[in-house]
Amino acid sequence: MKPIYLIGFMGSGKSTIGERLCTKLDVPLVDTDQMIVDKYGPITTIFQEHGEQIFRKYETEMLKRTGGMEQIVSTGGGMVEREENVAFMTHHGLVVHLNASMNAIASRLGEDPNRPLWGKDSSERVRLYNRRKDLYTEAADATVLTDNKSIEAIAEEIADLQ
Ligand code: S3P
Repeated sequence: MKPIYLIGFMGSGKSTIGERLCTKLDVPLVDTDQMIVDKYGPITTIFQEHGEQIFRKYETEMLKRTGGMEQIVSTGGGMVEREENVAFMTHHGLVVHLNASMNAIASRLGEDPNRPLWGKDSSERVRLYNRRKDLYTEAADATVLTDNKSIEAIAEEIADLQ
């Protein structure tokens, strides 16, 4: 089995669905955000002290550790911002977009101080969502719609893609 890369906007369920999927397929789950936190500390601190570009650099560094293993990789919502990340995921694994509506995401996230790019301004959030939507679509080998589906049903759909 090739690694499965879960991509999608913040709050689209990558971690939760990743957990269910790895139980189902009996493979490990890795989370690129968690890898960054383990090595460099909290994401909010990285954004505040070093800025987004340094965070993106760390993100690429962690992604490059994930090729060639049978595992599920839950990625940060901005992984598709760098073309080299998309090329890496496409080359090494199956890229699955978890497509959740803006409404579902907004109600799931509310106000989340731990997500620096989930701004205070709702028009900013919508702008980011719309721009990212195209990046996810272009990067994905497959898209799974997640609204109104159970975690189990979504995990089943992804497991069937292989
Ligand atoms: C980001 C999403 C976050 C995290 C960071 C930046 C983004 O991950 O990587 O705050 O650019 O969309 P989640 O998608 O897990 O929230």
